[in-house]
This record gives sequence, C-alpha cells and structure tokens, in this order.
Amino acid sequence: MIQFELFQQKRKRLESKFSNVESFSLFTFSEKESIEETLTKFSTLTNEKISKKIQSIISNGNNNIYHFTLSNDKIVFIYKVGERKKLHSDTFRRAATNLIREINKLKIGNTLILPVELSDEEINCYFKTHEYYLQTYLEGFKLGDYKYDEYLSKNEKTQVVTMVYYPEVSDEKLLDVFNFTEVLMKYVYFARDLQNKPSNELTPKRFTEIVKGQASKNKSVKVKILDFNEIKRLKMGGLTAVGKGSDNPPYFLILEYNGNPKSKDINVLIGKGITFDSGGISLKPASGMWEMKGDMSGAAAVVSTLLAASELKLKTNLVALAPLAENMPSGKSMKPGDIIRTASGKSIEIDNTDAEGRLILADAIEYAKRYNPKIVVDLATLTGACVVALGQYAAGLFTRSDELAEMLTKAGNVTSERVWRLPLWDDYHALIKSNFADVKNVGGRWAGAITAACFLEKFVDESYKWAHLDIAGPAFQEDNIPYMSKTMTGYGVRLLIEFLKNSF
Ligand code: BES
Ligand code: MG
Ligand code: ZN
Repeated sequence: MIQFELFQQKRKRLESKFSNVESFSLFTFSEKESIEETLTKFSTLTNEKISKKIQSIISNGNNNIYHFTLSNDKIVFIYKVGERKKLHSDTFRRAATNLIREINKLKIGNTLILPVELSDEEINCYFKTHEYYLQTYLEGFKLGDYKYDEYLSKNEKTQVVTMVYYPEVSDEKLLDVFNFTEVLMKYVYFARDLQNKPSNELTPKRFTEIVKGQASKNKSVKVKILDFNEIKRLKMGGLTAVGKGSDNPPYFLILEYNGNPKSKDINVLIGKGITFDSGGISLKPASGMWEMKGDMSGAAAVVSTLLAASELKLKTNLVALAPLAENMPSGKSMKPGDIIRTASGKSIEIDNTDAEGRLILADAIEYAKRYNPKIVVDLATLTGACVVALGQYAAGLFTRSDELAEMLTKAGNVTSERVWRLPLWDDYHALIKSNFADVKNVGGRWAGAITAACFLEKFVDESYKWAHLDIAGPAFQEDNIPYMSKTMTGYGVRLLIEFLKNSF
C-alpha cells in the first residue's frame, strides 16, 4: 500500500523534516551534467554527501538504479532514466514502477522523491503541466505496487509513504495532485481486481453486485440492473443468445452520473462484459483460454471510469453500460447457422459463436440511444486480430469522427494508454454480408478487427459521435511494460478520465 504525504517545502522547515525521511529517490538522466546537477541539488538541500561507494546497482535493461547508504544510515536511490533526448510521457511512470518494487523488497517505510528538473518546453511537450508531470511519478508508484493477492493465503503487505520535493508546485496544488491520483488509481485497482477475479467467482450477477456495492458509497451514482427476464422483455436478442448457454444468466448493468446538471450533453461508455469466453459451441483452443476470464475488461474499465469521474466530481454527464454474460457451450447454447434478432430489430446470422462480444454490444449500442447521447465510446476485448495487428502496446481505434479520434489519441499519448486508428471504409462492410440475415457475425479471414468494428457500426446512429476501442491487446500484458502487472492492466480508466477531462 502506498500513501502520499505532503512534504513541507518551506526552506526553514526542511532540516527537521529530513530527519523523518528514511530514503531518498533521486531521478536523473544518464548524461553527466544531469547526474551532477541532481547530486548538487541533493547536497544543497540536505547537507548530505553521497559517498562514492555504491552499495549496489540494480540494472535490468535500460533501468539503472544505484543504491547508496549515507553515514546516518539513510538510503539513497539514484535512478538513471536514460538519455534526455529519449524522454517521453511514460518515462517516469515506468521508472517509478521499477523503483517501488526495489523499495518494497528492501522493506523501506518511506521515501522522498526528487524529480528531475525539466525545461518548460519538455513539460509542455510531454506533460502539459507540472502537476501532470508529478502525477506520472505517483501513478508509477501505484501501478507498480499493485498485486492481485486475494487468493494467496500469505499476502505480505508493505506500507510505503511517498513524498515529493518539488518547489515548482505549491503545497496546495501538490495536495490536489495527490488526491486526484489517489482516486484515479483506486479505480484502476478496482478495474484490475475485477479483471483478475476468476470467473468461478465473478459471474455476471456477482459483477453487478460488486459494482453496486462500490457505487453505493457514492450518492451521485445511480445504478440499474436488468435481469434475464428484463433482457428478454427488451428483446435484447444478442445478449440473450450469448447468455442462454450458461447456467449463470446474463445481466445488463447501467450506471448514471449527472455531474453537469446544467448541460443536456450525455456521454455514454459501453464495455464488453463477458465474464468468461470459452467460445461457446465454436470452442476456443485450450492454450491460453484461462485469459478469457478477463473478457470483461471493457466493462471493468467503463464502470471504473464512471465511478472515478463521480468521485473526482468531473463536470460531465456520463452513463456506463455493461452487458454481462458467460459464453459457454451447452444444450441451450446458440449454434452456428442460428439467426437472431437484436433490440434494434436487425437480424444477425451466427457464423461462429466465438464472435460473441459484438452480439452483446449491438444490444448495448441500441440501449444507448435512449439517452440521446452526444458521444458514445465502447471498449471491448473484441478480437485476437487486433492483437496481431498492434500487439499489446495500443488499442485499435475506430471512428468516423476525426475530432473524436484526435481527442482519444491525445489522451492516449499523455496517459500512455495508447490508441491507434484503423479504417472503417465501406469496402470492409461487404465482408460481413449474410445471405439470410441483415448481417453476419464474422467476416472471414482478413481484417478481423476491422470487420468486427464494421459489424458494430451497423447498429450505430449518425446522431452522435461514436468510437470503438478494441482493447484485446492492452487489457492483458505479458510484462512488456513494467507497470502493467502480468496479465491484467486496468487499461482504459486513465485514458477515459483524461479524455473526459478535456472534453468539457
Ligand atoms: N474475446 C475474444 C477476443 C480476444 C482474443 C480477446 C484474444 C483477448 C485476447 C473474442 O470474443 C473472440 O473470440 N474473437 C474471435 C473472433 C472470430 C471468431 C471472428 C477471434 O478474435 O478469434
Ligand atoms: Mg469469443
Ligand atoms: Zn470474447
């Protein structure tokens, strides 16, 4: 557990304050000038000298953490983040992640961070504000400290207090950054916990209960839960077709947050909520199938975003929709060749029951219309094809709106929850033509991520701006990015909050 605490920056008080600090975390670029500048700054501030004797160097790839002990037993970490010209918006998030893991190993109780001094141009280019620059360190500490240990009989909890020495930002503003990051990260953790929970526990019903429990702590969030009867009554044929094969029935979860009552504008977020995707009758291969407990990552991201937005009191009107189901083979399952009808009235020919996400999303997109939304964004672990195209470093972005594309791309670059635009040209729509129904649920061998997006577009109205994010890559990780704990990442929460912050 990490807790942020204010370190009074007023000169006079510094000395007595330093006596409570157990360790210092100094960040520097690898160039000599930068290292010297950092060491001088440290000595001037603390009157301490770092001896030439390095206790140890922790080096993995580009990360070099030098570990020293001062004469008074305090520990100093010097973190070389690489060359200055290679600086990017994620540099310190990644560094802070690696550092907190070392701090945890050494069981150090608190640390004072001294960030690198950046020029105004650098701040402007990569972080926009000093506050956000600091936030990336704090996010890194939190992201790196995350563990999914609910099921471990032995879970060791560490407690690290993190302070920042950064006179460029007033104590007051620093507190704001702490509080903001604290709430934001709480919901990244919330999303990760949901993703990591195995499907034997996290059934569609349990998903609604956990979210309802969390939402009840916040009076400004309204929760509606539609059960299977209601789903059938609303003629949600997609969600019904997917959910009926399982003993755990489907649900449809709705969260509403009215953060800007003066405005009529409503943004709707939709998240794919398959609590387990076996593929149904068109069963998936065994290897890696366990990962499909995370096929509700889109739903986790959108509900977490809405809860975070309400706790952060963002001035926006938001709705989060999560169609929830388990995709299982059984005597009651849908079968290839079946034709179903969604809430929109459009018919779908099922070619492969493993292309289930788009079926439940079609009903959710239809449901979104009743809000007369301005923007609809859906997040879904929709296709393996998108992971083949982009790997785990970016979500596929599909939209007809250049404006929306730009906003999401910018938010993605700042948060490093990146998106990459792929086309929605009409030509691709031809690939999902059906002989027997309005549309077919798969489009053949090529461009699987795009044909899936085209399928969704068939259910979208032109009255609002729509974007689809295929998050099948970045929702899971195999350790490519340090702070993305192995497997589940909470991808989308930081991206969407940043997007929402900029969109009003
Ligand atoms: N949930 C999967 C997509 C997926 C794959 C997510 C890998 C994360 C990692 C989705 O429901 C699916 O099975 N898609 C099929 C579609 C195909 C049958 C047209 C796929 O990608 O193979
Ligand atoms: Mg599937
Ligand atoms: Zn799926």
